[in-house]
Amino acid sequence: DVDNSKLAKLRGKKVLITAGGTREYIDPVRYISNKSSGKMGYALAKVAQENGAVVTLISANVKLPIPAGIDVIQVETVEELAQAVQTQFVSTDVFIMAAAVSDYRPVHFVDHKIKKSADSANLTLELEETTDILKSLKSRRTKQIVVGFAAETNDLLNNAKKKLDSKGADIIVANDVSQSDIGFGSEDNAVTILQHNATNIKVAKANKQIIAKKVLEVIVKRLS
Ligand code: CTP
Ligand code: CA
Repeated sequence: DVDNSKLAKLRGKKVLITAGGTREYIDPVRYISNKSSGKMGYALAKVAQENGAVVTLISANVKLPIPAGIDVIQVETVEELAQAVQTQFVSTDVFIMAAAVSDYRPVHFVDHKIKKSADSANLTLELEETTDILKSLKSRRTKQIVVGFAAETNDLLNNAKKKLDSKGADIIVANDVSQSDIGFGSEDNAVTILQHNATNIKVAKANKQIIAKKVLEVIVKRLS
């Protein structure tokens, strides 16, 4: 039995969460993506909803059952994700950017299936940077508590601190994705929660539901 009383302040609050991983199409049958399963974002959505929040989940290519009582907006690409976030952000109290976003996308989309070339053993894809969705909200913030994730394979805390400073977020949840038993695709996670002018909060390896609860507890402390 989980004591959720610390999360009582979530009742009636609007919580917007992104989850999953984006896809950037190369041609009609191929895309660039990442290993995100959406489990962390879905766990956050479920725990928030169970504690009375009004949850909207923007879901990018997640193969999990749609949680009951949650509004889900399905997206595929970074542009679709950015668009959905822009529309929903204004009216939300809490925004959690848990989705793994492609940093680059192909400059040219080829409208037919690319054929194997007979005269070259190599194929070069030209990529361009995508919109940094989290960063783009910096100037649009009013009341929102903004939470980002930092997926790192090395120098976790230094890299996460840089993201806390550069992204205009209140909270960064740092995630070591170099180990296969936590992070991408797994049931468990272990995170460090970073905030400005506060001691880092280390959350030991646990089920993503438990991690979600801890992250929401930190968020709730910031709700007026
Ligand atoms: N993010 C975003 N838009 C992007 C890329 C990332 O909103 N185009 C968000 C992610 O959802 C996450 C945070 O920014 O909440 C950090 O993402 P991460 O990939 O860890 O960092 P990047 O800033 O993309 O830097 P890098 O991948 O080089 O570490
Ligand atoms: Ca990135």
